[in-house]
Amino acid sequence: MSINLESLVYSVRMASARRASTDESQLRTLPAAGRFHVAFKKQTMHMKYIFFIFISSLIISCQDVEKDASDANLKVDSLLSEMTLREKIGQMNQYSVGSEMTGPNASVDHAERYQRFLNGEVGSVLNTLGARDTRKLQKMVVDSTRLGIPLIFAYDVIHGYQTMFPIPLGEAASWDLEAIQLSASIAAKEASSAGIQWTFAPMVDISRDARWGRVMEGAGEDPYLGSLIAKARIKGFQGNDLSDKHTIAACAKHFAGYGFAESGKDYNSVTVGKNTLHNVILPPFRASVESNVATFMNAFNDIDGIPSTSNLYLLRELLADKWNFDGVVVSDWNSIGEIINHGVASDRREAAMKAAIAGCDVDMEGDAFVNHLEQLILEGQVSEDLVDESVRQILSLKYELGLFDNPYKYFDEEIERELIGHPAHKKISREVATKSIVLLKNEQNLLPLANVKKLGVIGPLAKDKDSPLGNWRAAAKSNTAISLYEGIQTRLGNQMQISYAEGCKLSIGPNNFFNEVQIEQNDKSGFEEAIRVARTSDVVIMALGETAYMSGEARSRADIGLPGLQLDLLKEIYKVNKNIVLVLMNGRPLSIPWEADNIPTIVEAWHLGSEAGNAIADVLSGDVNPSGKLPMSFPRHVGQLPLYYNHLNTGRPNNEGAVFYSHHMDVENTPLYPFGYGLSYSEFEYSDLVIKQSSEEINVLITVTNTSDVYGQEVVQVYIRDIAASISRPVLELKGFEKIGLEPGQAKQIRFQFTKEDLSYFDTNGNTVFESGEFLISVGSNSQDLISESITL
Ligand code: NOJ
Repeated sequence: MSINLESLVYSVRMASARRASTDESQLRTLPAAGRFHVAFKKQTMHMKYIFFIFISSLIISCQDVEKDASDANLKVDSLLSEMTLREKIGQMNQYSVGSEMTGPNASVDHAERYQRFLNGEVGSVLNTLGARDTRKLQKMVVDSTRLGIPLIFAYDVIHGYQTMFPIPLGEAASWDLEAIQLSASIAAKEASSAGIQWTFAPMVDISRDARWGRVMEGAGEDPYLGSLIAKARIKGFQGNDLSDKHTIAACAKHFAGYGFAESGKDYNSVTVGKNTLHNVILPPFRASVESNVATFMNAFNDIDGIPSTSNLYLLRELLADKWNFDGVVVSDWNSIGEIINHGVASDRREAAMKAAIAGCDVDMEGDAFVNHLEQLILEGQVSEDLVDESVRQILSLKYELGLFDNPYKYFDEEIERELIGHPAHKKISREVATKSIVLLKNEQNLLPLANVKKLGVIGPLAKDKDSPLGNWRAAAKSNTAISLYEGIQTRLGNQMQISYAEGCKLSIGPNNFFNEVQIEQNDKSGFEEAIRVARTSDVVIMALGETAYMSGEARSRADIGLPGLQLDLLKEIYKVNKNIVLVLMNGRPLSIPWEADNIPTIVEAWHLGSEAGNAIADVLSGDVNPSGKLPMSFPRHVGQLPLYYNHLNTGRPNNEGAVFYSHHMDVENTPLYPFGYGLSYSEFEYSDLVIKQSSEEINVLITVTNTSDVYGQEVVQVYIRDIAASISRPVLELKGFEKIGLEPGQAKQIRFQFTKEDLSYFDTNGNTVFESGEFLISVGSNSQDLISESITL
């Protein structure tokens, strides 16, 4: 289904030749300014840029001011005034040219699509990669269209471009904002060198349901942590200057509520009240606006019957008017067309009208704007001012990216060769990956591995070089990650004898972005060999979990235990050797109650990216002391979902009234591993909680001591509870954290400072409210192990 660029370019040449003869007649129908411009263009294509420069220098010399925002506005307005209505609408049209389709192509008629490129009826493109191909397409558009407005090239650069970093959920487990920012900045460097100027990331959707496959793409369940991570990722992608050719525009998505899909089923409806909307779902989006994110993407879902793509309240009242966001809002893939499926428009024309009025600027693969907006405007159904406003944002973004100064600035094959997959990027990827690993259990201190002579490495993911790359792997080549086995062999191969058995397969048939993964359910023929390896080993590493494509878009699961035969295999191994280190590689929290009860050591290693195996070996060997903390609760049973630490108290929170309280009768009323949880090879003690209040601020002091004999890092977490307010507030809310390093025996006093505003919440209109009264302040190493004190404010 992908468009072949060669034929695209060929058809451009033919069309340009045809158009040459009609230029004269077109000239006569243009307004004077346009005629000047077209005549200008006829001399040489590059003269167009001289035209821009001419206008710019004119403005600059007249005003004698620095190149600033108002300067940009003037340039944009001047260009806007040159544009025909069709050209303006063209800027609002985005096509996919490439193979990574996450829905059907809007128009299947390729000839018509080509023609639209030539007519200036396409403003941006997604899925075209590589300096060579992006340059070709850019040149085609710049050379063939009347005004030569460059395209923006967009792509889903989610956790790396070719050097892969941990999946975002895994990276969130690092609680290391600098590392997260650095990883995004490297992704931006690689992507921009390959012709990309716009990433559809970060996904800032909060989610409380691990069945939803896209939890891998977010920062977990907490709005505070999620907001800080959103900011770090945006800063990483965008840097300080969008026109720097190593930065790219970010996109806060999916606005809004997508992570609250009912039953965790992707694309499903969302029903949330305003309290949850403003206090849980929206904070990371607000934070994104505060971080000057360049763009927003709206979401596939409806909220209480209103599709996000045509949601006037979200897009216009909140985002544009209340939060003053003046960037570009792009639809999700054909989400304008899908307004019809939602039953809120009877045809694409009505869908286009609703999306445009709501405030959607760019139609991704929907053919709704390009086919219908002109008529809607001519009939007075949509105001041309709205279109002008959208086009102004789009042109401003192109201007900020520096595309008007030089439409080819991102397309340098030499820089691309030099930067992509650079060894320094791999090194950083490995460091970030080690920070993302969460030690869930280490009961017999099997880790770090010591005095082991014979090590067994068993499991379908042990030698898997593909799954660690994770879903949404951009331009990473399949099977290029360092596998767990390779990492262990490199690090420990000369210290111990290492034997391997696959044990069982995890999936059968195609295992890629486009196909449903078929889970292996029957073939136990590899068990025998695995049991033999386990019998003859001192310690067994079990590499189990999910393949890359068992999480991600459209990868919701109803059962979030270890898929396929893996638990059967684990139980068989356990019968012959109990010294098991279970290394989980997965894209979501799993429900692993048997494993947690029986297996002495469990390491959560997510899909860690290109350097996964090395990073895991760093932790298993003890070269790196694990310091990750869960950004999302692990349930005891899938039936507990949605499960999250910051729930409301309910009217019946405990069993004072015997059986009549909020619980499931067949499972303990807590998560298996709570939010914020993660162990270390060190041990940390919390003491001396002191809270000092003044009228201006609240100071929370806590002493943390490393009582072990190894250096370690700890994420110190502060939570609050607003005991009585106008609306029910969560039993705990993360309000601060700090990742500290402590030498053996070292103690440190950590201070957190809060203002009253930090302790406020949003009312149902999204306004900040502070209500005085009693607050419980809790500090500790996760959302369950806390020491608390009450204060009155
Ligand atoms: C659909 C996904 O929901 C969105 O996140 C992504 O950016 C687009 N497809 C483009 O691939």
